[in-house]
Amino acid sequence: MSGTCVIGLQWGDEAKGKLVDLLAPQFDYVVRYQGGANAGHTVVAGSETYKLHHIPSGILHPHVKNMITPGVVINPTTLIAEIDGLAPRGVNCAENMLISERAHLVMPWHIAEDRQTNATEVRGESIGTTNRGIGPCYRDKVGRTHAIRMTDLLQPERDERIRTVAEQKTKILRSLGVPEEELQQIAPDVVVPLAASWAKRLSAMIGDTTEILLDAAEADKKLLFEGAQGALLDIDHGTYPFVTSSNSSGVGICAGSGIPPKWIDHVLGVCKAYSTRVGGGPFVTELEDAVGDQIRKLGNEYGTTTGRPRRCGWFDAVAVRYTARLSGVTRLALMMMDVLAHLDELKVCVAYELDGQRITRFPGHADQLRRCKPIYETIEGWKEPVDDVRSVDDFPEGALAYVRRIEELVGVPVGVLSVGPDRAQTIFTDASSVLKLQPVA
Ligand code: IMP
Repeated sequence: MSGTCVIGLQWGDEAKGKLVDLLAPQFDYVVRYQGGANAGHTVVAGSETYKLHHIPSGILHPHVKNMITPGVVINPTTLIAEIDGLAPRGVNCAENMLISERAHLVMPWHIAEDRQTNATEVRGESIGTTNRGIGPCYRDKVGRTHAIRMTDLLQPERDERIRTVAEQKTKILRSLGVPEEELQQIAPDVVVPLAASWAKRLSAMIGDTTEILLDAAEADKKLLFEGAQGALLDIDHGTYPFVTSSNSSGVGICAGSGIPPKWIDHVLGVCKAYSTRVGGGPFVTELEDAVGDQIRKLGNEYGTTTGRPRRCGWFDAVAVRYTARLSGVTRLALMMMDVLAHLDELKVCVAYELDGQRITRFPGHADQLRRCKPIYETIEGWKEPVDDVRSVDDFPEGALAYVRRIEELVGVPVGVLSVGPDRAQTIFTDASSVLKLQPVA
């Protein structure tokens, strides 16, 4: 038994960071394996709130080793700012964090390209990326010719390589219409010294995370994998093309971290008790009405990375059943139960109507998904605050009925219920179960 994963089952922002922080003390390693600074993981510890973009959410626990593995795309400027932001709060990343030499760098030209192309419409809508250069960086990774990896920062030919790519990128971006003042930011004379400064700051934290994690798994150490974004944003299995550019469902764990499937024992699938989405793309249960506004307000549904208001809607059991199966989920974590406590009536989407047919399969085409109408089951609201609930027995019966219905529809038992942002507002419903998760004192 060594590997447990925390995976988002919706469109991201499911509060995975809170769970990883909570579970981390029981593990030897916390591993980020995909995505980059598009992620925004919020961890609340006492009166302090930490917003992490690259750094694994186990960083607040000094005995835990935090690994940023090959599948992550790293903007070194942002990473250094994160490291520096944690230092005055007593967190020393140099001691317990390692960055894979194989991880790719998000360069200034990736960000310029993302900004330039973000408004481009695909299937009548823009993807609405986070503008963090994620798609262009992953494209260069797959394309190979213009990619720069962490290990390149440490090589003697670094400056020459970066100069060459910067010159080529300047030409490409000029042809895309990027304004000259922005092209100044990616000029070789700007980026070459910038990369040298990154190397100076980060060299001691760059290493072979793959070898270390394989050794750790073989030595029966405990690994906690921290997914970023959510499975519906998975490049292969999500609501394509309205997705991110990495495998954000459970299928991405092995490719991104270098750890084979045999070391993965448990997958905790995290979802909100309702749904949210930022950016474009189909969203069958979206509420563009006063109830949607109420959920946004009560849940403070604004993006951690971009501050954008999130689109809100009812829980979609068709979508979550799909992503839970895809990710091999062994237990569900149902978050933000406190938000629903204010609503008179709740709805859960149990099937879709597509072109007059009732379906429970999650369609693979964005246009089909757009045509789907939700078929709802209505559940009476329990109208009683749950913020102070600390055990399953203390939940109102209506809240438990809601949880049981979600378990039935998704086909996976709930192992964790969350009733607020604080560590203490987390209830482990089956601490003695196969997951062996223990509440933290
Ligand atoms: P990108 O990952 O910046 O390319 O953005 C692609 C899509 O994924 C956009 O709709 C973003 O809003 C969404 N997205 C990316 N990262 C996150 C996240 O961490 N939470 C929620 N949505 C995200």
